[in-house]
Amino acid sequence: MSFLDKLFGKKETPAPEPEAEGPLTLKQKELVQGSWEKCIPIAETAAELFYGRLFEIAPEVKPLFKDSDMKEQGKKLMQMITVAVKGLDTLGELVPAVQKLGERHNGYGVEAKHYDYVGEALLWTLGKGLGDDFTSETEEAWTITYTTLANVMIEAQGKA
Ligand code: HEM
Repeated sequence: MSFLDKLFGKKETPAPEPEAEGPLTLKQKELVQGSWEKCIPIAETAAELFYGRLFEIAPEVKPLFKDSDMKEQGKKLMQMITVAVKGLDTLGELVPAVQKLGERHNGYGVEAKHYDYVGEALLWTLGKGLGDDFTSETEEAWTITYTTLANVMIEAQGKA
């Protein structure tokens, strides 16, 4: 800033945030990706915690999984979240796959309101897994990530 600008009180314009694609800022994307990295080594436990919590808060969804091998199901869920979290860098490519996933969820008997329970169980699990690293900023970034995914799925299910 020049001496004259300082003298006349011209404000320094802050550097603009680098453009982010999609609903997350770059910072939020890094928070989600960084925190998920930390969960991968404990994925199996995290999946168990997740379903335990889900069935506790929403026992009515338990019958949807009556024929499921929960260990396999846990793996698939964690893999899908990993794909989605990586895909935050290339959202355009991710959307069609998430839409197809949503369409398949019609066949599993999933309703729009179930996504709230899954979101709640997911955030709770992240809190358990990450401890102090699950800051309010990280929580907010995950809430946006999950809500975005869930909305694409609900819309693809024709239940929006
Ligand atoms: C962002 C949200 C979700 C993600 C990423 C997700 C991911 C997955 C994946 C990857 C599968 C494996 C089968 C496939 O690829 O079609 C699956 C199956 C399934 N999901 Fe989801 N899901 C989500 C939300 C939900 C919700 C809200 C429910 C309802 C409680 C649910 C219930 C089921 C059931 C019942 C199956 C079938 C299990 C089986 O075949 O044994 N999912 N989900």
